Amino acid sequence: MNTGKQVNAMIGLLFLTLLIVGAYFVNESTRQEEALEEVTERNAERGARLYVQNCRGCHGHEGLGPEGDPAGFAPKLNSSAFLILNEHNEFGAKATSAGVAEGIRTFLVDTIACGRTNTLMPKWSLAFGGSLSDRQITNLVIMITNGRWDLVEREAEHVDEEAGLDEQGRREIIFSDSSALSLTQSNCGQFSIPDLVNFRSRDPFAGAGAAATPTPAAGTADGGGEAPTVQGVPVADFVNARCASCHGANREGITGLGLPLLPSVLDQPDDFYFEAIANGRPGTAMPSWLAAGLTEDQIRTLVEFIKTVEP
Ligand code: HEC
Ligand code: HEC
Repeated sequence: MNTGKQVNAMIGLLFLTLLIVGAYFVNESTRQEEALEEVTERNAERGARLYVQNCRGCHGHEGLGPEGDPAGFAPKLNSSAFLILNEHNEFGAKATSAGVAEGIRTFLVDTIACGRTNTLMPKWSLAFGGSLSDRQITNLVIMITNGRWDLVEREAEHVDEEAGLDEQGRREIIFSDSSALSLTQSNCGQFSIPDLVNFRSRDPFAGAGAAATPTPAAGTADGGGEAPTVQGVPVADFVNARCASCHGANREGITGLGLPLLPSVLDQPDDFYFEAIANGRPGTAMPSWLAAGLTEDQIRTLVEFIKTVEP
């Protein structure tokens, strides 16, 4: 063999080695991706099982809350607002940035672990007297942020079939009476109304997955002028965030829960409603909002809003 041929052979060998090494790494990263997907799938399945056992009574069979049939009274969790998208998501949308993803996870973990003061959302974390471990709460969050409501549906079908439930029996799983439930009294998590409004209205398919800016809900318009705010958000958004889970999304009332809060039915003097909001109605689910940190001025704003503004 002359030197030219030797060099050629060596270059050939080098290429072959590079090819093999390259193929190995490509393979390895798909292998890792597949393994990760498998772990996510298993955790989401565990989350789905926990959802069926613990959450559907209030949030609805498929997490659709008030939009479900039968309707749950607690907010919708089966929402694109809580989706965390990876690079190869099925929608072809931009991946959720790490910062936004972390924010969503923290919001969900805190809410589930700590519950919500003055609402019927219980504390679930073992650390706060609940029944779920950190691992279990994480699995619930994995199910929610991956939008795996198909797993919830499958699990529910299985559980309900084993229990021999018919359509009526399935309806009865959804709470329609709050009298047996108790208000969460204190909250261990960080929680602010503007954050809440932002998280709920986030659109992961718009732009870079940044949290949407809150759009003032319909009903704030009063012929121009600044809409009054409560705790940093327009009063309509506040009512939507803090009162809707008991009084209905359109303040129409929820049977067995809160009364309607519409100008047409609120025919008592302002003081009567001020009293109800400020001090709550002991013996019912209606909490004291003074105790929850609202000022008297803010409560007056709420009274004026529910007595004068149509939803
Ligand atoms: C007894 C009823 C009840 C049960 C059971 C319940 N929730 Fe809730 N949950 C609520 C209510 C009510 C709210 C809304 C609180 C408010 O008005 O801010 C809520 C809010 C939430 C939120 C915040 C959503 C948002 O848009 O603000 C999450 C997340 C959540 N619940 C997850 C769960 C999970 C997971 C479970 C099961 C482990 C569960 N909940 C069980 C009543 C319940
Ligand atoms: C956890 C459930 C719950 C939440 C959250 C809640 N309410 Fe209520 N609210 C009730 C219940 C239950 C009643 C009815 C009490 C009764 O039967 O007297 C009530 C009664 C009222 C009344 C008296 C209505 C009347 O006709 O007597 C007003 C006003 C009111 N709520 C305003 C609010 C406002 C404003 C918010 C949000 C800041 C709010 N509520 C949040 C459960 C709730």
